[in-house]
Amino acid sequence: MIGYIIRKFIGSKNDRDVKRLRPIVAKVVELEATFQNLTEADLQKKTADLKARLSQITDKDELARALDEALPEAYAMVKNACRRLCGREIIVRGHPLKWEMVPFDVQILGGIGLHQGKIAEMATGEGKTLVATFPVFLNALTGRGVHVVTVNDYLAARDSEWMGAVYRLLGLTVGCILHDQSPEVRRQQYNCDITYGTNAEFGFDYLRDNGMASRVEEQVQRGHYFAIIDEVDSILIDEARVPLIISGPAVVHQDSKYAEIKPAIESLVRNQQRLCNRYLDEAEELTKKLGASDAEVANNRQAIEDQIGTLLYRVKLGQPRSERLMRLLEDPENLRRMTKIDLELHGDQSKKALYREKEELFFAIEEKSHEADLTEKGRQFLSPNDPDAFVLPDLITAYHEIDQTNADLKTRMQQKAKVQQVFEGRAEQIHSISQLLKAYCLYQKDVQYVVQDNKVIIVDENTGRLMVGRRWSDGLHQAVEAKEGVEIERETQTFATITIQNYFRLYTKLAGMTGTAETEAGEFWDIYKLGVLVIPTNRQVARKDKHDTVYKSKREKYAAVLKEIQTIHAEGRPILVGTISVEVSELLSRMLSKAGIPHNVLNAKQHEREAEIVALAGQRGAVTIATNMAGRGTDIKLGPGVADLGGLHVVATERHESRRIDRQLRGRCARQGDPGSSHFFVSLEDDLMRLFGSDRIGKIMEKVGLEEGQELEHPLLNRSIETAQKRVEQHNFQMRKRTLEYDDVMNKQREVIYGFRNEIMRAEDVRDRLMDVMEEVVIQKITLNTTADTLPDDWDLRALTDWVNLNFVLAINEEELRKVADSGKETPVEGSIYDGLNPAQFAVCTFLQDQIREAYKIKISYENPEVLARIERYTILSAIDKLWQEHLYNMDSLRHSIGLRSYGQRDPLIEYKAEAFKMFEELMVSIKSEICHNIFRSASSLMAFEQFLQNLPKRMQQLEVSAFGPGHSTTANAPTGGSDVVSEVSQEVSKAKPVRTGPKVGRNDLCPCGSGKKFKSCCGKTL
Ligand SMILES: Nc1ncnc2c1ncn2[C@@H]1O[C@H](COP(=O)(O)OP(=O)(O)OP(=O)(O)O)[C@@H](O)[C@H]1O
Ligand SMILES: [Mg+2]
Repeated sequence: MIGYIIRKFIGSKNDRDVKRLRPIVAKVVELEATFQNLTEADLQKKTADLKARLSQITDKDELARALDEALPEAYAMVKNACRRLCGREIIVRGHPLKWEMVPFDVQILGGIGLHQGKIAEMATGEGKTLVATFPVFLNALTGRGVHVVTVNDYLAARDSEWMGAVYRLLGLTVGCILHDQSPEVRRQQYNCDITYGTNAEFGFDYLRDNGMASRVEEQVQRGHYFAIIDEVDSILIDEARVPLIISGPAVVHQDSKYAEIKPAIESLVRNQQRLCNRYLDEAEELTKKLGASDAEVANNRQAIEDQIGTLLYRVKLGQPRSERLMRLLEDPENLRRMTKIDLELHGDQSKKALYREKEELFFAIEEKSHEADLTEKGRQFLSPNDPDAFVLPDLITAYHEIDQTNADLKTRMQQKAKVQQVFEGRAEQIHSISQLLKAYCLYQKDVQYVVQDNKVIIVDENTGRLMVGRRWSDGLHQAVEAKEGVEIERETQTFATITIQNYFRLYTKLAGMTGTAETEAGEFWDIYKLGVLVIPTNRQVARKDKHDTVYKSKREKYAAVLKEIQTIHAEGRPILVGTISVEVSELLSRMLSKAGIPHNVLNAKQHEREAEIVALAGQRGAVTIATNMAGRGTDIKLGPGVADLGGLHVVATERHESRRIDRQLRGRCARQGDPGSSHFFVSLEDDLMRLFGSDRIGKIMEKVGLEEGQELEHPLLNRSIETAQKRVEQHNFQMRKRTLEYDDVMNKQREVIYGFRNEIMRAEDVRDRLMDVMEEVVIQKITLNTTADTLPDDWDLRALTDWVNLNFVLAINEEELRKVADSGKETPVEGSIYDGLNPAQFAVCTFLQDQIREAYKIKISYENPEVLARIERYTILSAIDKLWQEHLYNMDSLRHSIGLRSYGQRDPLIEYKAEAFKMFEELMVSIKSEICHNIFRSASSLMAFEQFLQNLPKRMQQLEVSAFGPGHSTTANAPTGGSDVVSEVSQEVSKAKPVRTGPKVGRNDLCPCGSGKKFKSCCGKTL
């Protein structure tokens, strides 16, 4: 209240911020007046001059200052361009559109906010599309490329064509990235001054450029200077939950266990249903008993109530989506009883009682956190003879016990490996079961997903759109496929991935706009350092928002919704009905059809017609059902006469988890000062109310004593519902933040790998870098295999010689190395790469490095230099890619197994970081090792390879069989001995494909050496 009074008198911080920008707006308006007698050519000359000046500046701060200075002039040019366009026809998405917009002052204001790197919150329909043109034009003058990010392809195309008129008039170029464009076309679009596109397209292009391209010419983006994100909340918050992933069939193949264990789980789920039904029977019995007026009951009233509450709570844990449970909870008494037990069980620190309740079931599901766990009872059911089959062994204790035995190191290692194997097998089994349980108990068809063409397709919970091609991770998708009996797709392998958050952090400057940012201001600031500036509307918003109406059950709620639609429809006003799932939109559609009301349905299943349906939604008598937020950003214009009737009426059938989404829906009506109204219908059975509603609402309902079909409406209720929403928002924010913390680890690693990759791709000649790699890896291997504080006599040189011979086609034996070691006198120079090695190690190191360099020189002399240069680059890149992809896979597994470790009271994030760091170090060594291994085994032709082998110095030619390592496939039946060796090696070569470092190449594919020719007519020719 006090806050309100203070604001009333001195204005909020936001008001002051806005006020501070007003003089700049005035300046723009004033300048624009003077531009009115210029010619178009004059304007274009101005653009050219400004661009020439601004694109020269390289210093970041200086550039920022120069842009601020140029702002009034550039903004005045944009406004003036709009004025000139008035009355002209522009073809947008194939239809002529008459330009009628001269920017309002508030739009210029919003444009200044965007230039300053803020989020401009402007109500829906205020014309944000036009607002963006100001900062886009100004910043494009730097020549560094400005990206405008939209929520879908349709809007990207629409806006680039529509706003393109302004940029072109001023003399700049505009491009647009669309889903089906070739790299060639994409590059052209990125080379424009301004590029429109969706976040997914921008993000995937980044991943392809940095994680997959093998030549600079294949890259399409040219940097990340400034991005303006339209519908910024939708992109940075809602979409940010699913990272961008480029994937393909798994390299590390995993057999799908889901189909195999499905029957067992199905019967487990059935048993649990039976069990829950028994609990519900009991609960009903007890409720009846309470109704009877006998003395025994009177004395034990509380105990009986608690018993009922406990039974209901068990069912909530065991079968959260049970219809019968919902029905029982319609009675506020029951709801109160259950909530009481819920609070008691969770209030207890030790959670012992909660644990006991779970053990009554076969498995327990935490609906809020989406977790499903088997209980002892469930384990007994699945594996009566060996219930331990689903218990994870305690690795640490097991290792400790093994170490206590007297066995030698090797035996102990073997034993540990065995335990580890059991651990992994079980962890995987437990994981599959838990995913299947979730698939059965939490994921509903037509709500979270739909089944189309024998495929499970995710439905975006916020927009209701089908997310074709995206898959739930971690096996969940396969579990749902198993449940639906559709074909289970192979586990996929991630080739490249990045979260939306980290993609947008690449930009030097970021800004965004939306109708709804304020509720998430905290998150925008925390994660993106984006402030929110609320821009006043051009004209007063004339929308009337009714209070929410609350019902006990969904049934009553839908009946009321239907009645409201009938009434308003009879008046001729258009109605937009928002639902939160496909299922509900279909239900309502059936109800409307029965009532004889013609209508359009806009949901995940038919979004192609989206823009068209939405555009018609403002016509007289139109009824449109849309899953929430479908149609964001598309313009609903009122038909003739509709404004006089009261404009568009929005009916919402549920409150969404997040207030922002509700506001968006409301904002579909009353655009640009039009009249309009909105009304939300809520029931106590809605997920939001069930999961996060406080018992306060239950109490209010109870006091009022609702009759069947009766409704409740009160400002206090609105507040309670908002509190519930705030709770969910907070919860979701914490989850997103957590995900991001995990991804930050990966993000750093990705930067290193992409940096390395880019260096190799851009370098004119990679041979120096290749030699460095060879030297580095030798040092690393020596440090791993020998110790500075023991004598060479005690070193186990076998592993080292095997490694050297295997990777470098040398033939060195242990004795020789030991001699070299013994002769070592010199200590390496401090600070050099050899620092830390003792003289013996140093001697071995330089000896091996010389040998390798020597061998490589021989190789060079027999190769076609041009081809070799390409092979070198390709070898390095493909080693990075192959191992990085494996690493991504391993990191995924780590991420999952770390979750299991959290049972051990340790912070999983810290464990994850430590382990990830170790894995990354190992990755870097493996990459280098792989490069060396492959480079000596790649050749432009078989002949070159043979010549190379034949011309190795005499001593080097004495290749032992072990040159290809112990257990190598050809060694088993290979004749040993001098002269046979070369042909042995060449068999090796002819068996494999020539450049054997990359993935399998088809004869008609482009040659992986990068020549641009077909494989069969390039490196594949000699085969
Ligand atoms: N200065 C202006 N003068 C007249 N009409 C305008 C002006 N600016 C925008 N409009 C009109 O307002 C309507 C809404 O514009 P736009 O779609 O850009 O709004 P928005 O703020 O992006 O809305 P949403 O939040 O739904 O995306 C369009 O029909 C557009 O032509
Ligand atoms: Mg818009």
